[in-house]
Amino acid sequence: MHILHISAECYPVAKVGGLADVVGALPKYQNRLGHQASVVMPYYKTPFLQRATTQVVFCHHLEMAGTTYFSEVMAVENDLGFLLYVIRIQDLTDREKVYGYDDDDKRFVAFQRVALEWARKLPQLPDIIHCHDHHTGFIPFMMSRTPDFEVLKMIPTVLSIHNAQYQGAFSHERLNLLPRFRESDIGLLDWYGQINPLAAAIKCAWRVNTVSPSYMQELQEKANGLEGLLRAEKQKCVGILNGIDTETWDPATDDYLVKNYTIRTRNAGRKANKEALCTEFGLDATKPLFGFVGRLVWEKGADILPEAIDQALKRFDVNIILLGSGSPEVENQLIALQQKYSGSYNAYIGYEERMSHQVYAGADFLLMPSRVEPCGLNQLYCLRYGCMPIVRRTGGLKDTVIDIGDDGFGICHDQTTVSDVVYSIERAVTHFKDLKKHKAIQKTMMEIDHSWENAADTYISLYQQLNT
Ligand code: ADP
Ligand code: GLC
Repeated sequence: MHILHISAECYPVAKVGGLADVVGALPKYQNRLGHQASVVMPYYKTPFLQRATTQVVFCHHLEMAGTTYFSEVMAVENDLGFLLYVIRIQDLTDREKVYGYDDDDKRFVAFQRVALEWARKLPQLPDIIHCHDHHTGFIPFMMSRTPDFEVLKMIPTVLSIHNAQYQGAFSHERLNLLPRFRESDIGLLDWYGQINPLAAAIKCAWRVNTVSPSYMQELQEKANGLEGLLRAEKQKCVGILNGIDTETWDPATDDYLVKNYTIRTRNAGRKANKEALCTEFGLDATKPLFGFVGRLVWEKGADILPEAIDQALKRFDVNIILLGSGSPEVENQLIALQQKYSGSYNAYIGYEERMSHQVYAGADFLLMPSRVEPCGLNQLYCLRYGCMPIVRRTGGLKDTVIDIGDDGFGICHDQTTVSDVVYSIERAVTHFKDLKKHKAIQKTMMEIDHSWENAADTYISLYQQLNT
């Protein structure tokens, strides 16, 4: 089966969060199952792409809102396990960041239009077009409703919702970004008075999935305004839990670690990684180490972290390390704590791939007090590395972490509140005193299989239902 993934991110080409990890792994595992999956994404000025060898395979002059943009699709040489294409649109995509520009709506509509211009001229049309998040949300609409892309009409489309908080909505005044369509179809694009690409994709895609079953259930009740739509489209929706790339995320081979280890050698391996991490951050490796890795945003519960860290460090003899960036206010609060708790707390404000691996390998516990967590990959990585997750029961966290009180391997709490997090830290401290038991649970954690093999096949079955 020929599968074309369309996405704004793909690891290691350009990564902001877990979307990149999924799009950088799922196609590889689908190919191993005997299919031909490829990825098309925008060209950004990322280190990976600036070093890459590329070959132009398609050129197009895109007419959009009265301006002509020169665009080209390039095949990128790589050893990622799938064919990779990037779309460079003059003045629009070739910038340093993936998101965060005032004209993001225009940039991503342009990307989607050029992707379809290229796809419709391919010698062999894809059997499935798999869209990821709102940046690719107009694709199912354009394929089924615009004369320009009539030839793609019969190709089934799948939308994966990685995060329904972000919908990419913009005003009707900017409708001229889209190619022409029948006026009567405007309702497919509109949601509560705005042009909403995520809503349009939920309406027009042949199938819709979220990245965990619990998140799909939760969206029926709370989906940042889309709950009614998701209830109405329920029959074509399903939750498929993400996998992880067990080759990139393998403590036995991970180049980012100070010392590699397996389940058998985990004691020595994790000790060396913890010591290196603590030396780097001026912490004490003899104390229980709690980590946080992630975007410092409301969904991740980042706003409660400064107060929770403050209270935990007042009460318990532990160390805390934080890696993340996001809300400037939260960043400043987290930086301010560094002086107060020098020697037992440190934070790196920024994005640093190496350090994230080192935290999973060196910390004893990982905090994830998320308000919204469609799947969450950090908890899956930390399990594989033998670090115990402390999670709020929501979305994918609920589906993947079982509390130690229920014979599980993590610590779960119900609310994103300071008191819930501090109480969980207290439970962790008590649990950690029984090192023998902790080490036995660590083995269980590391043995859990969350590799993509199964989930990649679940997606294939979904596509097959659409192709019969
Ligand atoms: P989300 O996609 O919502 O941010 P996920 O848990 O799915 O959350 O994925 C987050 C990914 O981004 C993981 O690979 C994690 O290691 C990585 N990550 C998040 N913040 C940072 C950071 N500051 N530095 C390095 N890696 C980070
Ligand atoms: C989103 C979600 C996260 C999920 C990731 C990959 O960024 O916030 O929970 O793990 O996508 O699907």
